[in-house]
Amino acid sequence: MDKFIFVLGSNFKLSLAELDNVLHFSRFKGKIVDYSANIAVVEFEDLHKNKHYINDLMELQYILGGCQKIAKIFDFVHINTLMEAFPSHIEKYKVVEITRSKILTIINNSLPKMFKRIKNESLFFAVSIYPNFYDDEFYKDVLVKHFLPFLNKEIMNLLKEMGASKSLYYKYPEENIQKGNLNPIFPHVLIKYGLFNEDRAEIVFGITEEGMYIGRTYTCDDPSYKKKIDEERPFKEFKSSISPKLALIMLNFLNLFEERESKKILDPFVGTGTILLLATIEDFQVYGTDNDAQKVQQTFRNLNWLLNDLEEDIPYQLNNQIKQVDIKNLSEHFEKNYFDGICTEPDLGPFFKTNPNYKEAMDLIQNKLIPLYSHTFREAEIILKPNSRIAIISPIISTSDGGDVSMDIEKIAINNNFKVVPMMDLERIINKSNQRLQFQKSQVRAFLDAKKGQVIKRKIFIFEKK
Ligand SMILES: C[S@@+](CC[C@H](N)C(=O)[O-])C[C@H]1O[C@@H](n2cnc3c(N)ncnc32)[C@H](O)[C@@H]1O
Repeated sequence: MDKFIFVLGSNFKLSLAELDNVLHFSRFKGKIVDYSANIAVVEFEDLHKNKHYINDLMELQYILGGCQKIAKIFDFVHINTLMEAFPSHIEKYKVVEITRSKILTIINNSLPKMFKRIKNESLFFAVSIYPNFYDDEFYKDVLVKHFLPFLNKEIMNLLKEMGASKSLYYKYPEENIQKGNLNPIFPHVLIKYGLFNEDRAEIVFGITEEGMYIGRTYTCDDPSYKKKIDEERPFKEFKSSISPKLALIMLNFLNLFEERESKKILDPFVGTGTILLLATIEDFQVYGTDNDAQKVQQTFRNLNWLLNDLEEDIPYQLNNQIKQVDIKNLSEHFEKNYFDGICTEPDLGPFFKTNPNYKEAMDLIQNKLIPLYSHTFREAEIILKPNSRIAIISPIISTSDGGDVSMDIEKIAINNNFKVVPMMDLERIINKSNQRLQFQKSQVRAFLDAKKGQVIKRKIFIFEKK
C-alpha cells in the first residue's frame, strides 16, 4: 500500500488546504484520500516509484508549513475492527480477544517492513496515536488508557519473538496516561531519540472515521531552525509578527514551486521581515519595503544575520531590495510586471489590549484599512506579472458590542483587476460525516488563523492578477 500519513499542523483545515494545493500544483502530484483533524492520508501519482522517494518526502516536509511529520503506511485496520477490539465497555470478551489478535497479526506483518533488521538487534520504538479528534472520549478513555499500553507491550513482545536481542519502548509520562491527556511525541523528541535510525522507529497509528492507518515516520519538521529564525534574529516584534509556519503556508499558495531561486517575491509591509526570512530559506529572491525607516534597517540586519548563518553570500544588490517606500508609491520604485508574487501582512491597525467598540472598529476600517488595502491592490496590479498571485492577510476585528467586523477585501481586489483564488478545491476532498471535519463552501475562499480570544483575527486570502 503506497500511502503516506501527513501529520497536520494545529490549524488542520488550513494545513489540509496547503497540502492539497501542493499535491495539485507542484511536481509532487497526488491526492488526499482520507483525513481527520490530525492527519491526512496521501496517495502519490508516482513519487513512491522513485527509489529515493524519502528525499522527496524530506523536500515536501521542508516546503510545507502545516505538516509535522510524514510516515509511510504499511497497513490498515477497519474502524469496526478497532472498535470491536477496544470497545468503550467490554461485553463480549471472546470477540475482543479475537479481534485484538487480528490486529496483532497485522502489526506482526508490518514490523519487518518497518525495521531493516530485527534478528539479534537491539531495538527501540515509540508509539504515537493520532485520533480523529483529541477531544473524542474514545481517545481519552480507551485509546490512551488501554490501546497505547497494549501496543507498547505487544510490539515489544513481537519484536522479541522475531529474535531482537533487546526491545524497548518510549515511555510517556504515566500521569498523562492516567488522565487520558496525551500528545503523541513531538518532532524535537523524534530527533532527540534518533527515531529515524535503522534500529529505532516511531510507529504511527493514525485514526480517521474510516479506520486506523499503521505507519512508520520517515521525516519530521525541524522546529529548531524556524524557532531560531523567530527568536534569535537580531530584531523581532512579537506583537505584530506572523508565525514562521503561517509565512510558509502563505508562500506556498503563490504556487511557485519550481526554480524558486529565479522567482522574485515582495513583502511591501515588511516589518522585521518574518516573511522574507522564510522566503529566503525557501530559496526565493526576496524584496521588502516598509514606510518605517527603522523597520527597513532591522529587516536588512535580520537578513544579513540569516544569510551569514546559512553561510550564503549576501546578494550584491541587497540594499536595493530592502527599502523605505510608502505603499502609495510602490510602483515608482519597481518596474512594471517585475514580481512573481507578493506575500504580505499589511498594517492591521493598532494593537488592542481590549476589544474596541463597533464604532471604533468601523472608523479604523473606513478611514485607515480600506484606503491602505486599496493602495496595496492598485500598486500590486502594476508591479506583478500577469497571472501572478498575492497572498495577503486581512483583519477581522472582534468588537465589544457588535460582534466581528471586517472589510470587503474581495471587492477591493476585484476592482483592481484581481480574481479570488479559492484556497481549497472541494471536488478534490472526500466527504466526512462529522460536521467539524467538513469544509463549507463559504469557508474555502479564505481561511481564518486565530487563537481563542484574539481581538484581531487573521484571515488569509489569495488573489490572482488577471
Ligand atoms: C503588521 S506589520 C508587518 C509585520 C511583518 N509581517 C512581520 O512579521 O514582521 C505592518 C508593517 O506595515 C508598515 N506600514 C504601515 N503603513 C504603511 C504604509 N503606508 N506603507 C508601507 N508600510 C506601511 C508598518 O511600518 C509595519 O512594519
